[in-house]
Amino acid sequence: MGKNFYNIEQLRKQARKNLPDPMFHYMEGGADDEVSLERNCKAFDRYQITPKSLRDISNLSTETEVLGHKSPLPLILAPTGMNRLFHHHKEYAVAKAAEKQNLIYSLSTVATTSIEAISNTISSPKMMQVYIHKDRELTRTLVERTKKAGYSALCLTVDTVVAGNRERDFETGMGLPPKFTLKSIASFLLHSYWLRHAFINKGFTLSNLTDYINKDEMSGMSPAEYINNQFDRTLSWKDLEWLRNHWDGKLVIKGVQNAHDAKTAETIGADAIMISNHGGRQLDGSPAPIDSLKPIKEAINGQTQLIVDGGIRRGSDIFKAIALGADAVSIGRPYLYGLAALGEEGVISAISILKEEFERTMMLSGCSSLADIKEDMITPY
Ligand code: FNR
Repeated sequence: MGKNFYNIEQLRKQARKNLPDPMFHYMEGGADDEVSLERNCKAFDRYQITPKSLRDISNLSTETEVLGHKSPLPLILAPTGMNRLFHHHKEYAVAKAAEKQNLIYSLSTVATTSIEAISNTISSPKMMQVYIHKDRELTRTLVERTKKAGYSALCLTVDTVVAGNRERDFETGMGLPPKFTLKSIASFLLHSYWLRHAFINKGFTLSNLTDYINKDEMSGMSPAEYINNQFDRTLSWKDLEWLRNHWDGKLVIKGVQNAHDAKTAETIGADAIMISNHGGRQLDGSPAPIDSLKPIKEAINGQTQLIVDGGIRRGSDIFKAIALGADAVSIGRPYLYGLAALGEEGVISAISILKEEFERTMMLSGCSSLADIKEDMITPY
């Protein structure tokens, strides 16, 4: 396509053009009234950056350590399920883009590419995200496969004991396969590039789970029905101790939203906490993660890294998160927009846009390194 994109919103618009309605709204949507989804982005606007002048910023470094990895940016790619819905190069495109930029890539349990296929494709640091299924043997096997495949980190998502109520998916008939209505058929026909590749390059299966799911039972299930059927509602902090004992690599708890849970995660030995509301896709009305950062930072003992996840659309958002005490941020939709827009090239584009914006924000604020980004530069608006 050879198009130049200079902000994330442009990638979003291109993704909108490329994807049929069920796919786009599955990616874009949130739960219920999408209050948290909207708040995640808007919350960043409520913090202003007061720059420091004349600080010699000629030697700029954005380098930092995330989960033991020397990363060129305080940024990781969050786990997102079913990437095949958005582009036929699916998770491979995202993983390769992450490797090219030396950033940590996260693979979702409900990915359309397997744990092993990703580890055979990239050699840069990888994190596997797990949900706890009712069938504990399944989770145990996923952890074993992750170990064997050489992933450096395991991420347990704790905000999805039941599915968030994503009403856009009801409207579009999103499911595997989607429920066809006149409207959705029209939308598929209008997106011929996507449709053509749907027939040529299939690959829509949940690759990590194929040995465990009954295809007849699954057929036509929406993502929400799958979660409500398969995920374990009895999940408690004890299970986390179990996981800690079975996994000796880096352990990340994703979806922590309050100081008490953060302290418990730290006590259990989590190497990092992802302060996240699942991009506004689970509990609607939950706070924007950037607003939960400070109370969580104050409550923990500094033994665990803090990663803020949700609503990052500009490099200045990364700056604000670092200033308020995050060790890094993670992004979901920004790279998915890139994936849907242009495949691997689009993911690289999304990362490059955020990188350039972050660097420019640092320079304009008089900061040469992450250590220079201080809380006193941020004031609530
Ligand atoms: C997600 N997210 C997610 N999280 C997770 O732990 N496991 C998963 O399988 C998924 N799947 C998923 C699919 C899609 C389409 C989206 C948009 C998100 C949540 C994701 O990891 C991350 O928390 C949010 O995307 C962060 O918010 P932003 O960056 O999208 O605003």
